[in-house]
Amino acid sequence: MHSLGLYLYAFALCGVAYAKPGCSSKIDRRKVVQQFNPHRNTSSDTTPLQVGNGNFAFGVDVTGLQTFQPFGTLSTWGWHNFSLPTTEGQTSVEDFTGLDWWTHGRLVNYNQPNPAQNDISQWLIQNPQRVNLGRIGLAFNGGDVTEDMLEGTTQTLDLWTGRISSSFKFEGQTVVVETWSDSHSDTVGISIESALLSDGTLGVFFDYPLPTRNKFDAPYVGVFNATANHTTTLDRSGENRASIRHDLDATSYFTAIQWDEAADISRPINDSHRYLLQPGSGTTKLQLSVAYSPISIPEVVPFDNISSASASWWESYWTSGAFIDLTSTSSPNATELQRRTILSQYLVASGLVNNGWYGKFHLEMPIWHSLQFARWNQWPLLRRSMPGTYDRFLESSYARAEAQGYEGARWGKMTDPTGRSAPGEINSLLIWQQPHPMYYAELEYRSFPHEDTLSSWDKVLTATADFMASYAFYNASTKVYDLGPPMYPVSENTNPNATINPAFEIAYWRFGLDIAIQWKERQGLEAPANWFTVRDNLAPLPTDGDTYAVYEGIPNMWKNTTVQDHPAMAGIFGLLPPPSSGPSLNMTLVQNTHDHISQLWDIGDCWGWDFPMLAMNSLRLGDVDQAVSYLLHPLFEFDDAGYPVGGSRVATPYFPGSGSFLLAMAMMAGGWDGGEGLHFPEGWNVKAEGFLPGL
Ligand SMILES: *[C@@H]1O[C@H](CO)[C@@H](O)[C@H](O)[C@H]1NC(C)=O
Ligand SMILES: *[C@@H]1O[C@H](CO)[C@@H](O)[C@H](O)[C@H]1NC(C)=O
Ligand SMILES: *[C@@H]1O[C@H](CO)[C@@H](O)[C@H](O)[C@H]1NC(C)=O
Ligand SMILES: *[C@@H]1O[C@H](CO)[C@@H](O)[C@H](O)[C@H]1NC(C)=O
Ligand SMILES: *[C@@H]1O[C@H](CO)[C@@H](O)[C@H](O)[C@H]1NC(C)=O
Ligand SMILES: *[C@@H]1O[C@H](CO)[C@@H](O)[C@H](O)[C@H]1NC(C)=O
Ligand SMILES: *[C@@H]1O[C@H](CO)[C@@H](O)[C@H](O)[C@H]1NC(C)=O
Ligand SMILES: *[C@@H]1O[C@H](CO)[C@@H](O)[C@H](O)[C@H]1NC(C)=O
Ligand SMILES: *[C@@H]1O[C@H](CO)[C@@H](O)[C@H](O)[C@H]1NC(C)=O
Ligand SMILES: *[C@@H]1O[C@H](CO)[C@@H](O)[C@H](O)[C@H]1NC(C)=O
Ligand SMILES: *[C@@H]1O[C@H](CO)[C@@H](O)[C@H](O)[C@H]1NC(C)=O
Repeated sequence: MHSLGLYLYAFALCGVAYAKPGCSSKIDRRKVVQQFNPHRNTSSDTTPLQVGNGNFAFGVDVTGLQTFQPFGTLSTWGWHNFSLPTTEGQTSVEDFTGLDWWTHGRLVNYNQPNPAQNDISQWLIQNPQRVNLGRIGLAFNGGDVTEDMLEGTTQTLDLWTGRISSSFKFEGQTVVVETWSDSHSDTVGISIESALLSDGTLGVFFDYPLPTRNKFDAPYVGVFNATANHTTTLDRSGENRASIRHDLDATSYFTAIQWDEAADISRPINDSHRYLLQPGSGTTKLQLSVAYSPISIPEVVPFDNISSASASWWESYWTSGAFIDLTSTSSPNATELQRRTILSQYLVASGLVNNGWYGKFHLEMPIWHSLQFARWNQWPLLRRSMPGTYDRFLESSYARAEAQGYEGARWGKMTDPTGRSAPGEINSLLIWQQPHPMYYAELEYRSFPHEDTLSSWDKVLTATADFMASYAFYNASTKVYDLGPPMYPVSENTNPNATINPAFEIAYWRFGLDIAIQWKERQGLEAPANWFTVRDNLAPLPTDGDTYAVYEGIPNMWKNTTVQDHPAMAGIFGLLPPPSSGPSLNMTLVQNTHDHISQLWDIGDCWGWDFPMLAMNSLRLGDVDQAVSYLLHPLFEFDDAGYPVGGSRVATPYFPGSGSFLLAMAMMAGGWDGGEGLHFPEGWNVKAEGFLPGL
């Protein structure tokens, strides 16, 4: 452990400029950011450009609205349940029984789909799903207009202010659209300028979809033609104002629309959910605000307020936190890393795009989504969810552990807002999400070594460590504590009944228990004895010849690509620091494992965060060029607007790619304990500021 005091001293002395020796450089951040503003001349059919604030996001096509492409309008609060099954004995959540599996000589109940209860099992997987709140587009009245009938379509997303500016010509007339999202509410600000508004040719439509039961709803969420299954109601609540209520089963929410010029709003076709806002004659500019909310709201934020709030929020986002400037390096590799960095920074802060896994959150994934906020010194964004989400899920996680005969809190996996984890064999048997709170807590303490930090995480860490210690099984013949079976490791492709002591999980259990113990020591408290007992007698890291192995006894790991998947054993020295208790890593094995992965692993079967995870392993081993080549691997692609392409296994965008990429970049720019400073290829001219070294 390096002296925390030293970091803080350097941090305080140099303000935001830590990593630059002498701390003198002040990067022209605006210039760097705006250099990567995305421009499009046609709509993408896979990703929108988007405005958003992390809790709300609005994706648009080339018109600046959702005119041709019904991209999503997503929030953190909009969720929907389809009605429960009516099958005898499966009509309520309580009817679901899961399955009992043998676990070290006793039957333990797991939250897994029960073949005898297929309907309720599927319902629990598919519900609730995140709702696409609605669609807003330009209405070309009296014409079936398609994108190719527009001329000169062009648009730019200004990352510095969060504004999308779009323009085109229709029938020889120019249309200019500006799109913004409010920073403090779920409101879109829209400005439309065109002579076409004045004669009724151009208006604005609003439409409402019904959710689907699709696991992946991308690039569009919901369907617009199942109009009979849900209802909408228009309330013309004022001269320049209307509200539309959307009811779908037990879910209802409101759209409040406010505009600045005389206009009419109506539903031209009774059995559709499409509404039309038509400005009065003579209008050449229309500004409107559209606010989505779970309850009817009395006042909508005006357009001007939205644009100024967005501009100031984004400017403060870009000027606070850490920053990397690679623009003085001419290598195209540096330019591409910079582009990915800036666009990822935009996307992790703006947020939601479509639905994967019904829009639920997976508790092993925050490490790839949001741990980077800690490393990039973006604490206000991280604190929106941490530790609050763990606090909120604590009760259901205690219950999960207790029902299985464990102590503490067992965090779920594919989780809904109430903390319920969806049934699934993998969902119920994955364990690497358990120590995540320790990583968050430790990074927060590094930045804020205060009592408040200790107390804000203490309950969560205690509950987590209690579970981890009680989950580990004392094997009387080997005299060590085993993890599993049954379990799924990070790579979700093993036989759970034969999976024991995976390298990453063993290393992570030690890491987690080390931090939990230290957390108690910092508070002058004594850690429970079983935390020490388990930590000090954990099964050794599994090996295969002169390398570390995915799990103990994995057959033919380097030759049989079928058993390969996520190479998580690379995470034990990369994502994770070397152990601070117990036996040291054998660095010969670490190096061999790294080299074998680059030569023998089926990289074609890797995706998303695998590449940053491998890059972090290369970085810690001092192989910067290999790290860069992982980060720029052809299978780790980012599109023109910076969305990580999903590849063959997941939908696009696959956002864990963005956050894990930023985590690896923070390691290159901020270093780590024992590897402080910059880690970039020879000859690169790099400026970085605002980073503390990682663990
Ligand atoms: C869009 O059109 C402009 C003007 O014609 C052109 O300069 C630009 O290169 C085009 N951009 C893209 C991404 O095609
Ligand atoms: C969906 O149903 C579950 C189970 O009854 C309930 O806990 C949850 O609150 C519901 N969610 C919504 C959005 O209706
Ligand atoms: C694992 O064991 C349980 C019994 O404990 C059995 O029901 C299940 O089918 C087994 N799973 C696999 C993949 O072998
Ligand atoms: C809605 O559209 C989809 C795709 O075009 C089609 O498969 C489905 O039958 C339509 N549903 C209704 C209710 O019209
Ligand atoms: C609409 O409701 C009907 C009747 O309940 C149902 O059969 C149909 O599947 C629903 N359509 C969609 C798209 O959910
Ligand atoms: C739509 O419904 C309204 C009232 O419910 C009715 O007055 C009107 O005639 C209907 N319009 C059409 C086109 O069916
Ligand atoms: C909008 O901004 C104006 C001027 O700054 C301010 O007076 C007003 O309260 C704001 N309105 C809302 C709803 O935020
Ligand atoms: C003890 O460990 C050995 C080696 O990992 C394993 O084969 C055996 O099944 C374990 N015993 C129990 C009771 O889990
Ligand atoms: C590390 O592993 C290598 C290769 O298996 C072995 O030769 C060496 O003795 C090990 N080193 C230690 C310190 O255990
Ligand atoms: C490779 O692994 C798969 C999955 O465990 C197994 O079914 C197959 O027999 C193995 N092939 C060889 C050649 O070992
Ligand atoms: C850019 O990175 C690739 C690996 O991704 C490497 O092969 C190439 O040599 C690098 N180019 C330069 C100019 O450094």
